[in-house]
Amino acid sequence: RIDNVGETVELKGWVAKKRNLGSLVFIDLRDRYGITQIIVNESMEITKEIKNEYILHVKGKVVERSSKNPQMPTGDIEIEASQIDIINTANVTPIYTTDETDASEDARMQYRYLDLRRPVMQNKIMTRHQITRSIRHFLDEHDFIDIETPYLNRSTPEGARDFLVPSRVHNGEFYALPQSPQLFKQLLMVAGFERYYQIARCFRDEDLRADRQPEFTQVDVEMSFMNTDEIISIGEQMVAQVIKDVKGIDVKLPLPRMTWHDAMETYGIDKPDIRFDMKLVNLNETVKDVDFMVFKNALDNKGYVKGINVKNAADQYSRKKIDKLTDLAKTYKAKGLAWMKVVNGKAEGPIVKFFNEEQLTRLLDTMNGEDNDLLLFVSDVKYTVVCDALAALRNHLGKELKLYDPQELGLLWVVDFPMFEYDDETQRYYAMHHPFTRPKDSDIDKIDSDPAHCLADAYDIVLNGYELGGGSQRIYEQDLQERAFKALSLTPEQIENKFGWFVEALKYGTPPHGGFALGLDRLAMLLTGSDSIRDVIAFPKNASATCPMSKAPNKVDQVQLEELGIEVTKDENE
Ligand code: AMO
Ligand code: AMP
Repeated sequence: RIDNVGETVELKGWVAKKRNLGSLVFIDLRDRYGITQIIVNESMEITKEIKNEYILHVKGKVVERSSKNPQMPTGDIEIEASQIDIINTANVTPIYTTDETDASEDARMQYRYLDLRRPVMQNKIMTRHQITRSIRHFLDEHDFIDIETPYLNRSTPEGARDFLVPSRVHNGEFYALPQSPQLFKQLLMVAGFERYYQIARCFRDEDLRADRQPEFTQVDVEMSFMNTDEIISIGEQMVAQVIKDVKGIDVKLPLPRMTWHDAMETYGIDKPDIRFDMKLVNLNETVKDVDFMVFKNALDNKGYVKGINVKNAADQYSRKKIDKLTDLAKTYKAKGLAWMKVVNGKAEGPIVKFFNEEQLTRLLDTMNGEDNDLLLFVSDVKYTVVCDALAALRNHLGKELKLYDPQELGLLWVVDFPMFEYDDETQRYYAMHHPFTRPKDSDIDKIDSDPAHCLADAYDIVLNGYELGGGSQRIYEQDLQERAFKALSLTPEQIENKFGWFVEALKYGTPPHGGFALGLDRLAMLLTGSDSIRDVIAFPKNASATCPMSKAPNKVDQVQLEELGIEVTKDENE
């Protein structure tokens, strides 16, 4: 920096760029702290050999620059080299190591070690480190104990598919990699540790998306003798501390809470992005006498009609653009997208003809339709289809119309989730969170009498429309656990086989306990403004769950398979 002018310094790093300007050679030397400009006289023989990504050892004097660069922390100075040694050479790199890159994501992953040299990527990985440091510090200050749990165990049922590891010692038997440390952290409560945490790797064989990886990291927390408000308070204080440490932003606590029911009604989703309005409006009453077959069919079959008002945007949506929105709605199983525009106080559009004056006025009133508003409607017999489609449109439109400041952080808790979800196909209930989640005290009896309306003492923390984490109070009483299993239609044999080893533990003095797990990758993604969690994982998998660098997964030797007692019957390359 400017304060170091006159000092003799030594730097070791990579050549980011080399330019000749008359008799002078300028070298941008890059190390983990950033870039420093080196200036060398062309007469120094070695400069001719220096190429991009060579590693240099530079000795020289810090001098003030005549033309300063305010974009760079070292932009006021440069180093006048008195000696340069080449520590190592480098081939021409297959991708650029600068912030700007035109490389495909697969090429970036194939040469990830070069991709990670890019200053943007270095910053993201370092921010992730700051996040984990801040979390560890917070949890340590609050008396949490870091305890590791096994990677090789029986499958922990958590909803996703397990990754299996065949046993060599016990041919025909398998370990499952943990989908989360859920059962082990509960056992640590039984063991009396009272406050546990672990920054734990979790493995789930599920379809990948921008916010999902087959292996990902949870900040996993569990505590005994704490009520839900106390657990939520620890969780939000931790998140607020991280945001303060990493972004310097003060988060106002306590965070807002919304019930799952309200989130679904007003945002159509259990992870609402609350940075902008455009709430879903229930129109079942409003349009019940309208002779539009699409709505009528849904309502006659106990279905739903809901709409959103895209304020002051009608002029920005041509038919063609509305067709695009319709396509988006259809990817969420909606059969179509009905719409109207408000122009000069009047509704316009192809479905207006199905409404009389009074019905139109009622609709515009209910939806607060004003000039230049675009009104979008979805109807379906299924509540989830209407909600999913409108929630997806809302998120899409919020981004497209820039309805929020991308720097803003929209944090909240969603609480009071249903205990169970009914699956039409298998005609049984499934646990919405996991089978050890406790019902709300007020709803304990509904676990047998009315499972459909039984609410769980479960909560999710949501940031900018992403599910950042979730948790619950756990069942600690044997009899209640049995009733929960019964509601899930599990037979005693299934219970014994799947969780017998765990249920046994409940018999020996289990304290009331609960906790949560935060998706560390998602938190890092959101706090670094990245579009994908792959950007905050040093060595991620691509969208088809492979590693373009090591080419995992791969075939193994016949000998290895024989040791494991495994025969491959399906080969995707044949
Ligand atoms: P849950 O399954 O909700 O809860 O997971 C907690 C958090 O982990 C993150 N997450 C993922 N991140 C990246 N890739 C994935 N495939 C992935 N799956 C989940 C999400 C999610 O909110 N044992 C419970 C927690 C508890 O009850 O304490 C659990 O695992 O951010
Ligand atoms: P149709 O009667 O199929 O020509 O549809 C008339 C309009 O209603 C079109 O704009 C469709 O996209 C729309 N539409 C069709 N099905 C639905 C639905 N389930 N919800 C909302 N709009 C729909």
